[in-house]
Amino acid sequence: MLNNSFVNNNILETIGNTPMVELRKQDTGLCRLFVKLENQNPGGSIKDRIAISMINDAELSGKLKPGGVIIEATAGNTGIGLALVARIKGYKVILVIPDKMSQEKINLLRTMGAEVILTRSDVNKGHPEYYQDMAGRIAGEIPNAFYINQFGNPANPLAHETTTGPEIFKQLDGNVDAVVCGIGSSGTLTGLTHYFQKVKPDVEMVVADPQGSVIKDFVTNGAFSGAGSWFVEGIGEDFIPPIADFSLTKKAYTISDEESFIMAHKVLREEGILAGSSSGTLIAAALKYCKEQLQPKNVVTFVCDSGNKYLTKMFNEFWLRDNGFSKHIQNGNLKDIVTRRFSDSEVICLKPDDLIKNAYQKMKLYDISQLPVIHGTSVVGIIDESDLLEALVSKPDPFCSQVKNIMATNLVTLSPNDKISDVRDILSSGMVPIIVDKGRFIGLITKIDLINYLNKNKIFQE
Ligand SMILES: Cc1ncc(COP(=O)(O)O)c(C=O)c1O
Repeated sequence: MLNNSFVNNNILETIGNTPMVELRKQDTGLCRLFVKLENQNPGGSIKDRIAISMINDAELSGKLKPGGVIIEATAGNTGIGLALVARIKGYKVILVIPDKMSQEKINLLRTMGAEVILTRSDVNKGHPEYYQDMAGRIAGEIPNAFYINQFGNPANPLAHETTTGPEIFKQLDGNVDAVVCGIGSSGTLTGLTHYFQKVKPDVEMVVADPQGSVIKDFVTNGAFSGAGSWFVEGIGEDFIPPIADFSLTKKAYTISDEESFIMAHKVLREEGILAGSSSGTLIAAALKYCKEQLQPKNVVTFVCDSGNKYLTKMFNEFWLRDNGFSKHIQNGNLKDIVTRRFSDSEVICLKPDDLIKNAYQKMKLYDISQLPVIHGTSVVGIIDESDLLEALVSKPDPFCSQVKNIMATNLVTLSPNDKISDVRDILSSGMVPIIVDKGRFIGLITKIDLINYLNKNKIFQE
């Protein structure tokens, strides 16, 4: 039997002791900036640490009994950590998640065996559909359930006080001057504050806050007004978490979604670190802090989770464009509504001689319901799901027939200078407007393209 310190007994023993990397390609002024790679935890985020801590604590206190049900309100990463620990320890997990969270996280949670209940992300604390209120209620209704409540659970900050803090201190040989944190439950900030108060109370805690969150105002002015909304996931709040301890917090920075995304892309390009959206927020704030310092300091921040959870969002050019983050040149006409441009090879399309099975594969692969058929630079037809269905029931060997045999050729084209109301009328009639400029195909406008455009430009009917 193997019995050495190189082998772990189970996956949970690999939580923590994450690597520290210096960011050397960034402008850090007089300071040095280090990132602790929490994305390297087995569940892929900083939240694995608190998952094991809160479950161990609940077992010890008798609140969680064998075969019990763990309930939590979570933006995703805590859920992944809880699902991981619960798999090994044999508990059922029910998670209540706001509906703005990435599909990757939700898929992962379901695959790990957690039950996911999606709820509204547009309501605040006190509303019955607010994710935390809902989780608390569900926990009261299910027998043998334990509501983890990371926002009020002392075992959350304790995980950072007893593991994250000592690791940082050891990795920097005690030479740490500032730590930049985001605030979700505030467990990281509070736990590190408790730790550094004991070992090095002159460490400055710095908060990185998404634009729209209330934490920065609270830290700076001691008061805050209503929260806005933001895309960055896992950090930012519309209230002050009850466990928050700001006693070492010297400064807070507001970082926009755009700055966060730009920073996450930059860190991947220049440092080879695939970090999530909130890590972009933290690193952007950390760099601002570094550049403001008048003497050299060692500054630590976190890669809280991995960018692979955001491949369909922040790392997807179309998602960025649909949500107004990409700097496409605006033409002031219908070209601006086209999200995928033929001239940039972005349109998923077919050729007339392609087989119907190619059309079917592309629709499935890209999750789209219509495809233009292109000859040279001109659209010669369009094929949609109803054409496929019709071919399947009426042709002898449908998948080997060519697209040109079933495509619709009664195309509805518009020129870039036509009106938005024309686009709307065509979409309402069940057709897809094709934008053609002097004979050249520009792209299609789908209903969601128009909705995104109207929303982005705040064009609403009075
Ligand atoms: C994705 C993500 N989750 C959670 C946290 C920290 O949250 P908490 O305040 O709950 O410790 C961070 C911190 O930066 C984060 O980026």
